Amino acid sequence: MFCALIYLIIGLASAANLCPNGWIFSTQTSYCYYISNLTMTWDQASTYCDGIGGTFLTINTYTEYTYLKNFTATSMLQPWLGYHRNLTTGKFYDLSGSQAWAYWGTNEPSINGDCVSFRGNDGMQATPCYNIQPVSCKQQPSLCPNQTQYGGSYTRSGTITSPGYPEAYYNNLDCLYTITSPNGTFITITFSPYEVESIYDYISIYDGPNATNYLGQPYTYGRNYYESSSNVIFFKFHTDSLIVKKGWMATWAAKPNTPPIRQNGTNGTLTSDNYPSNYNSYTEQLYYISVDYGFQINLTITDFVTEANYDILQVYNSSVVSNSYLIANLSGSSVAPWNILSPSNYLTLKFTSDSMVQKKGWSLYWFIQ
Ligand SMILES: *[C@@H]1O[C@H](CO)[C@@H](O)[C@H](O)[C@H]1NC(C)=O
Ligand SMILES: *[C@@H]1O[C@H](CO)[C@@H](O)[C@H](O)[C@H]1NC(C)=O
Ligand SMILES: *[C@@H]1O[C@H](CO)[C@@H](O)[C@H](O)[C@H]1NC(C)=O
Ligand SMILES: *[C@@H]1O[C@H](CO)[C@@H](O)[C@H](O)[C@H]1NC(C)=O
Ligand SMILES: *[C@@H]1O[C@H](CO)[C@@H](O)[C@H](O)[C@H]1NC(C)=O
Ligand SMILES: *[C@@H]1O[C@H](CO)[C@@H](O)[C@H](O)[C@H]1NC(C)=O
Ligand SMILES: *[C@@H]1O[C@H](CO)[C@@H](O)[C@H](O)[C@H]1NC(C)=O
Ligand SMILES: *[C@@H]1O[C@H](CO)[C@@H](O)[C@H](O)[C@H]1NC(C)=O
Ligand SMILES: *[C@@H]1O[C@H](CO)[C@@H](O)[C@H](O)[C@H]1NC(C)=O
Ligand SMILES: *[C@@H]1O[C@H](CO)[C@@H](O)[C@H](O)[C@H]1NC(C)=O
Ligand SMILES: *[C@@H]1O[C@H](CO)[C@@H](O)[C@H](O)[C@H]1NC(C)=O
Repeated sequence: MFCALIYLIIGLASAANLCPNGWIFSTQTSYCYYISNLTMTWDQASTYCDGIGGTFLTINTYTEYTYLKNFTATSMLQPWLGYHRNLTTGKFYDLSGSQAWAYWGTNEPSINGDCVSFRGNDGMQATPCYNIQPVSCKQQPSLCPNQTQYGGSYTRSGTITSPGYPEAYYNNLDCLYTITSPNGTFITITFSPYEVESIYDYISIYDGPNATNYLGQPYTYGRNYYESSSNVIFFKFHTDSLIVKKGWMATWAAKPNTPPIRQNGTNGTLTSDNYPSNYNSYTEQLYYISVDYGFQINLTITDFVTEANYDILQVYNSSVVSNSYLIANLSGSSVAPWNILSPSNYLTLKFTSDSMVQKKGWSLYWFIQ
């Protein structure tokens, strides 16, 4: 309860400038609302909202109805709503022809009028169209991207946050995010922190540019890491009409799409890419050596020149990359000659280079014993 209160207060504070001057943001509906101080007939009202960038107010959900009761509570005069009676059918419709079916006051709609105004706590009321009243309008502020592109052909990393972050996001969102990375890379993305209303507010992640290949969703206390198979990833952020939380931060990075190099048998040689010419920037290459059970791998690095501390060859005494199996973290120009005998029949190596300063790289040979 205390947390909910804080979110509400923060939500209101950050919402202040989401709407044009004179419009009020509703955290419940994520719409901006307006009541004119001009008064007019319903016919005049029916075009007024378009002129100021909104639409004539209709009530679409119970949440909106509840909000409007409070919103109109201080209005001296009842504002017009965007419904009027079709004299043929006798029923009420909005300007697009959808029927007004709920939120009428007691004993309404009455025969007292063919247009509709909002009588605060009592709901909608049939009102003579020639009455002179204020008009109520609404518009949807742009709270989140609509197919906004992130990344690009030359961008290798970035962060994206939920609308309003680090303050609470908004209700009723459907935000779309597309990330593109350079050709020849794939994208890794981690959602941390990830604080959303459980079940009802969520992110759906897809491999590729659209919602075809579903990958999954992030969890606060579970999987929050995904990767694409190519250089495009797409995700949607959906929120329902109740309860907002702090939101999320997504950190993404492009990884080179280079398949691991595998060697087996009795002996072999390995080098960095392009050796003895300079290796590439942004290299990330895995090397797996596996030999028959019962043998060990005697590995010798004969030449080694990399940018110290930034372009690194890591050696693992295992068949997987994991810090708990890291036995060497090599960089610089004073490594070679370097030798190791693997404790078991596996060794795994990983070479990474950064964006700047490329050097000759390294060469090694191995054999079993
Ligand atoms: C509405 O009223 C406010 C003051 O209450 C005034 O500043 C503003 O000009 C009025 N707007 C219109 C369109 O009359
Ligand atoms: C009703 O509106 C007033 C401002 O007009 C606001 O301070 C108050 O919190 C609202 N109450 C509810 C229950 O939304
Ligand atoms: C009223 O409803 C009838 C029957 O659905 C329709 O033909 C007619 O166009 C409507 N009139 C107006 C003014 O919308
Ligand atoms: C993006 O916004 C435009 C209008 O601003 C709308 O026509 C379009 O349907 C929206 N796209 C999606 C995917 O929601
Ligand atoms: C990436 O690949 C696409 C399609 O293969 C091509 O049109 C585009 O020019 C490439 N971009 C770069 C920066 O190489
Ligand atoms: C989704 O993207 C893929 C890959 O670009 C494309 O082949 C497919 O037609 C797209 N699907 C839709 C529904 O747009
Ligand atoms: C050894 O490597 C060759 C060629 O890469 C591969 O075809 C073979 O399946 C590998 N053998 C084992 C036991 O992994
Ligand atoms: C090294 O491996 C090759 C096969 O890849 C083999 O023909 C050769 O005999 C091996 N050399 C030694 C010294 O074991
Ligand atoms: C590994 O091989 C080298 C020769 O390349 C040899 O000098 C060294 O003693 C071997 N290491 C072990 C632990 O047998
Ligand atoms: C490996 O070395 C680099 C550069 O010196 C360092 O930043 C990194 O933390 C080291 N990694 C581990 C696991 O020790
Ligand atoms: C593998 O390396 C880790 C980390 O250096 C070490 O704790 C572990 O004992 C090694 N495993 C074996 C079988 O030597």
